[in-house]
Amino acid sequence: CGIIGHVGDGDALETLLTGLENLEYRGYDSAGVAVQNGSGIDVQKRSGKVDDLKASIDGVSLDGAVGIGHTRWSTHGPPTDENAHPHTDGTEDVAVVHNGIIENYAELKASLQEQGYEFTSDTDTEVIPHLIQSHLDAGLSNETAFRRAVDELEGSYAVTAMFSGEHVLYAARKGSPLVVGVRDDQFFLASDVPAFLEYTDTVVFLEDGDVVVVDKEEIEFTDLDGNPLVREPETVEWDPEQTGKGEYDHFMLKEIHEQPVSLAQTIEGRTDPENGRITLDELDPGVFDGIESVQLIACGTSYHAALYGSLALNRAGVRARALLANEYSVATPPIDEETLVIAVSQSGETADTLNALRLANAEGAKTLALTNVVGSTAARVADETLFIRAGPEIGVAATKTFSSQAVMLALLAHRIGADVCDTRPTDPDSLVFGLDRMPDAIDDLITSSDAESIARQYDGSQSYFFIGRGLGFPVALEGALKFKEITYNHAEGFASGELKHGPLALVTPDTPLFAVFTGVEDEKTLKNAEEAQTRGAPIVAVCPAGHRAVDIADAHLEIPETDPTLAGLFANVQLQLVSYHAARLLDRPIDKPRNLAKSVTVE
Ligand code: G6P
Repeated sequence: CGIIGHVGDGDALETLLTGLENLEYRGYDSAGVAVQNGSGIDVQKRSGKVDDLKASIDGVSLDGAVGIGHTRWSTHGPPTDENAHPHTDGTEDVAVVHNGIIENYAELKASLQEQGYEFTSDTDTEVIPHLIQSHLDAGLSNETAFRRAVDELEGSYAVTAMFSGEHVLYAARKGSPLVVGVRDDQFFLASDVPAFLEYTDTVVFLEDGDVVVVDKEEIEFTDLDGNPLVREPETVEWDPEQTGKGEYDHFMLKEIHEQPVSLAQTIEGRTDPENGRITLDELDPGVFDGIESVQLIACGTSYHAALYGSLALNRAGVRARALLANEYSVATPPIDEETLVIAVSQSGETADTLNALRLANAEGAKTLALTNVVGSTAARVADETLFIRAGPEIGVAATKTFSSQAVMLALLAHRIGADVCDTRPTDPDSLVFGLDRMPDAIDDLITSSDAESIARQYDGSQSYFFIGRGLGFPVALEGALKFKEITYNHAEGFASGELKHGPLALVTPDTPLFAVFTGVEDEKTLKNAEEAQTRGAPIVAVCPAGHRAVDIADAHLEIPETDPTLAGLFANVQLQLVSYHAARLLDRPIDKPRNLAKSVTVE
């Protein structure tokens, strides 16, 4: 879900709606705004997209300089008008927007209902305005009522409230992100920086337990008990242009095309091409001393990057394994202070990953967050952080963040290998050389890709299979995940050698098979692909020109000759383009696939 709040001299509504559009990638099944109209609070909310909300308030007068807004991704109760935020106490004395989960909402609700407060939605959020109202009814001031209510909440929240007749916003965070944007005569509250990037790049990242009270003149940071806190503003370097679609029809296509730049940013200053070295100078020299093994924890696409990273670490001589963050607490591998746990999360806010990270911290592991978001929870919770510097990613289906995560992990694998093992089984010259050329080579690959015609050729197939070996395996998994996410067609990724152990039973002339060749044991992968081809499946070889697979395959997606650690990442870009064009032919809502959200902050 996404929160936006505005206090200042200008008109709040426009800022709120812009903020909601910018935040729609966080959830888009309902949206709403509340504006202070001089005499009270006007709330407009409904199920559907922000555009639906805009259409429904077209012509409605919602004047006022203070307001809050919300875009929702349902967790408690279906996406209905009643369940949309902002929520009020019924009399509209107080309006609240909230992200997260109130774990004790059932008992709070029961107690409030006993006291006569009437609920109109199925959400956990609605307990907050009623709780605040109950404290107002007991004679407390707005601020004290807000603090008291927040103090009673268990679970995770980023919450923002406004009161009738008062030009002030109150906000608090615990476990869900919340940032403040600062401009001369305006303040913004939001769950993410892109919400207000058009207006300011001066940002204060809140910590868990912070309470903020802001009017148009000043902002006050305190803890829940009211003790003052110092929170320094920072300047973020994201360009507001980057949050628009520019010349592209979809954010996903824009973000695929941005990879030469985002990867250059990831790599910049972290290698020494002249001396064939990986530097990563931002990490202290002894940071990995004593590390015996590495666990990588992540979900979704980030899990595929983590798998990629674990294989790159193994190639560098380091004991490493990737684990699904949501399985980590039930199947926790042995952890001690000689274990490095790397949380891979583009948002740094995925609840499953944060839980696993906290568990690793509690067990005494050294922890490192690999994320795209400065100020994210993962970056605060981990001992060390590496930022992938991919820039904001709006399309729900991750593209440029995956490639930046994988490259960052390839760099890190080298650094850890060099620090903890004396041997360097991989060739740093070849990797650094490959990395140095990667941004330009990806640009060339995108410009000359045949992905669109291949998507057209196999449009309407029954299923789509992806195979790869070694570092090609996570690429096959990611190729299939991307394909199913945005086309809604069945797609499945397999380790090449596994095809014959079951999946081959599914292979027919109606199941095209994409085979990824990374330069390691390619003959075996080719044999596996041919086994499918013999059963009638068309084969699309993703490999360099001149590769033996090109002669055998039915179609070819070209990647450059490069270091085996990087080959799969070029293949991945080709597969991203295939998914994009396949989804486009089907007229799918590519940037916002049904039922999915960019950042899942619930377990
Ligand atoms: C959601 C998104 C996925 C993403 C996953 C992990 O499920 O839809 O695209 O890979 O979360 O997100 P993270 O921010 O932790 O990388």
